[in-house]
Amino acid sequence: PSADGRRHYRLTLAPGSSDLLPGRRTPTWGANGSYLAPTLRARRGDRVSVDVRNRLPEDTTLHWHGMLLPAVMDGGPHQMIEAGGTWNPYWTVSQPAATLWYHPHPHGATAAHVYRGVAGMIILDDEHSARASLPSEYGVDDVPVVIQDKNFHDDGSLDFTEVKLAESVAGADNLGVLGDTILVNGTYDPYFEVTTRRVRLRLLNGSNARVYWLGLTNGRTFHLVATDTGLLARPRAMERLLLAPGERAEIVVEFRPGDDVVLRSFEPALDLGFPTERFMGGDDTFDILALRAARTLRDSPPLPTRVDGAPGPVEAPAGATVRSFDFTGLQINGRTMDMNRIDQVVPAGATEIWEIERGDEWVHVFHVHGATFQVLDVNGQEPPEFVRGPKDTVYLYEFGTTRLAVRFDDHVDEERPYMYHCHVLRHEDEGMMGQFTVV
Ligand code: C2O
Ligand code: CU
Ligand code: CU
Repeated sequence: PSADGRRHYRLTLAPGSSDLLPGRRTPTWGANGSYLAPTLRARRGDRVSVDVRNRLPEDTTLHWHGMLLPAVMDGGPHQMIEAGGTWNPYWTVSQPAATLWYHPHPHGATAAHVYRGVAGMIILDDEHSARASLPSEYGVDDVPVVIQDKNFHDDGSLDFTEVKLAESVAGADNLGVLGDTILVNGTYDPYFEVTTRRVRLRLLNGSNARVYWLGLTNGRTFHLVATDTGLLARPRAMERLLLAPGERAEIVVEFRPGDDVVLRSFEPALDLGFPTERFMGGDDTFDILALRAARTLRDSPPLPTRVDGAPGPVEAPAGATVRSFDFTGLQINGRTMDMNRIDQVVPAGATEIWEIERGDEWVHVFHVHGATFQVLDVNGQEPPEFVRGPKDTVYLYEFGTTRLAVRFDDHVDEERPYMYHCHVLRHEDEGMMGQFTVV
């Protein structure tokens, strides 16, 4: 960073070798390192520019998930970076404080590129977040937690074997990789040494397909303070939250001296029915991160009862355009992704109602680029409390319809589209994706 609000980043994507497992070497990919990528940080109003060098053996892209920026800078499947090539996106940060992330998005190969390790967190700050009474010392009481599941061969190499069900499950026979080994920030069997009374965890589900149902082993509540695209106006106490691939949640956890607590993923209620639920991880429990508190803890700022300047709910005007999307059988509205077809055209700055219907017994996760949304209801009921905040990604909970109020950004481009898709990366690769332009 420099004083005048310019941030310049250099990211070199390259293959490497990592010690992800004790005593083994794993061939991986990363940015500026052999696995994962640096946390990028910027403030609202900053002009960001990035030099991306692709030293990988394959063409790829780098997508800024959750960032509001022109479609040509979005890093979706149309902004390919050739193997050996470079890409120089730039934009002005024009959105509230949030935890975002970045990852490759080449059509048909996103799952493999992310699984090999290319992904990083982005932290955006703004004038309100800087004043909010929240833990904010990076790595001390404000900690990135990138959660991923992997499978390894005995020699330490990544296992790409995918979960496939019988062909009889109509159209959708592939979830991609569901790993039985959890890594946090690329670390196996991770723990964090807590030195303060309160710690803010910036949780990111960077997994290809696994859904986590997170809580603390001591049964205590934690406070949700932010969802995907911004802070909540009021921190909300809860015991569990669901985190689907691509989703983020910021939570504040309270500690007593000497506490030894584990952030665990309990059996998630995926609402998929028998026997699918079990095959999709519905019976799985994992320890995610051990949290070990010191004998004496530094005091922390009190948890705010309200966060001034947090973005309010996205509200659609009366008579807002309604669009419906059927997520069934690896298709959206019966169609597979076509790079040359624009599926929707949205007026710049519009707020619309998008109704997402899940029509089969598979894990599907809705994500839209270039926009922020509010979950209005799920099958006509109030949505779960952990999704009541600014979002860009949401698990499609049950058979039926998830209704969203979606506010689109105002960067006009009649030619180049943004994407909406299932964030189960294998589904996205197989074409469960559509394109829209903002005009
Ligand atoms: Cu995180 Cu279109 O993706
Ligand atoms: Cu995205
Ligand atoms: Cu899906």
